[in-house]
Amino acid sequence: MGSFEGPTLDDPVTVGGVSVPNRLYRAPLLECAGNGPDAVETLVAELEPTAASGVGLVFQGASIVTADGGCAAPNMTRVHDPEFVADLSGVTDAVHDHGGKIFLQLAHGGLRSQAVWHAGFRERTPDHSELAVSRPPWQLRALGRFGLLDLAPDVMTTDEVTDLAAQFGRVAGYAADAGYDGIHLSGANMGIVQQFLSPLYNRRDDAFGDGPDDPPGTGGVAFLEAVHDAVRDHAGSIPLVTKVPAETAAPRVVRRHLTREDAVRIATRLAEVGYDGLVPVEVSTFWDTSVVRGAYPERAWAAEDMQAGYAAAFGGPVRARVVAALNRLQSRRFPAESAWNGPLCRAVRDRVDVPVFCEGGVRHRDTCDELLGGDDSACDLVGMGRPFYAEPRLGARLLSSGGDARALCESCNNCTVPQVTGAPGTCRTPSVVRERSALDRDGRYD
Ligand SMILES: Cc1cc2nc3c(=O)[nH]c(=O)nc-3n(C[C@H](O)[C@H](O)[C@H](O)COP(=O)(O)O)c2cc1C
Ligand code: SF4
Repeated sequence: MGSFEGPTLDDPVTVGGVSVPNRLYRAPLLECAGNGPDAVETLVAELEPTAASGVGLVFQGASIVTADGGCAAPNMTRVHDPEFVADLSGVTDAVHDHGGKIFLQLAHGGLRSQAVWHAGFRERTPDHSELAVSRPPWQLRALGRFGLLDLAPDVMTTDEVTDLAAQFGRVAGYAADAGYDGIHLSGANMGIVQQFLSPLYNRRDDAFGDGPDDPPGTGGVAFLEAVHDAVRDHAGSIPLVTKVPAETAAPRVVRRHLTREDAVRIATRLAEVGYDGLVPVEVSTFWDTSVVRGAYPERAWAAEDMQAGYAAAFGGPVRARVVAALNRLQSRRFPAESAWNGPLCRAVRDRVDVPVFCEGGVRHRDTCDELLGGDDSACDLVGMGRPFYAEPRLGARLLSSGGDARALCESCNNCTVPQVTGAPGTCRTPSVVRERSALDRDGRYD
């Protein structure tokens, strides 16, 4: 193992007053648990093994705060109903039984909702509309004219924005009652929070927009401030963490986007507002593969049993092939990269006193320790996403291990595409699944 001056992955850390036993977290990932009678069971099956393997903090994936709309993918879980959220104590108990902590990620898709992109969903709900921060940007309107998207934006009034912020707060209260240790806001991945922050999407002229002399993101920070205050009203001092986007992966033609400097300024302001942790991420202004950098998922696109689902999602087999071709181009632009958010995290950490969380392409134990305690440390906790699909009990191999321990995940993205059909998140690369089975037989996850 390399030698590090600062903390390592095995050391405890405090987030907003909550003690976390070590610095490894499971980044939020779709669990596709829905809201049916099996939702709690599905979530426990997904998250408990990770906690049992010693992972200090589990972020449950994006959960939608409203009763209608807002789901970016099929089969997401809604958390607007206090009775349903109370039952999620089965999930928090399962994690707590192993000494871990669990935060719930709250989200709304806005213009990224299924109603906009999922052809089958659009057919089933012809009268849909979706919450919008402002009139959609021309790039999305152009895709709408070609029939690739279906935009029926419901641009929020000032009162509706205030109500949405209050709804985030109410749900945080339900989550606190169900035993969640903290709240994570889905501030990136093109959801509604990013749409408030992004100068491409936010053209509002009220208190939730950027004034003519304001730097980009000012209106979004006002929304995040309203969410913060609502969370404090309903859930007291519960730790509150958010992703903070730098839109550095935006296509060059998109001039209005958040730069790295904008993201650092926004993060600094959010720490002043009272956010207890920040997850800086380099993303795009559009829904592309910059969030999950890696290879073109050849196997997933070719899978026989997925073709009908892809056709239903994208509006026919020809359009599905067009999306696959775009995916191929994107994977050339956003190949796998180790710890791609490290430099942004480092820049934020230089400016704030609250914990900074770093995720994206981290696969080696040595990399974790370097990000945490190396000469040029970048963060206070290190997260992984896809590696937990490949090895739900990965913590057992990475924690208290030698520096050469490495997650099996190859960032091939075969697990990501099938989720547009509502298929569960699981590793779909046979060689990796075989390796996991071999490690399992050797007792490496015990
Ligand atoms: C299938 C899938 C679903 C995801 N769902 C979410 C989510 O619900 N909320 C979120 O903030 N990020 C989500 N992400 C992004 C991850 O949290 C993480 O940032 C990303 O996977 C990069 O980390 P990795 O290289 O370790 O996978 C998702 C990623 C994948 C692959
Ligand atoms: S399919 Fe498996 S190896 Fe490929 S990115 Fe997903 S979890 Fe990782």
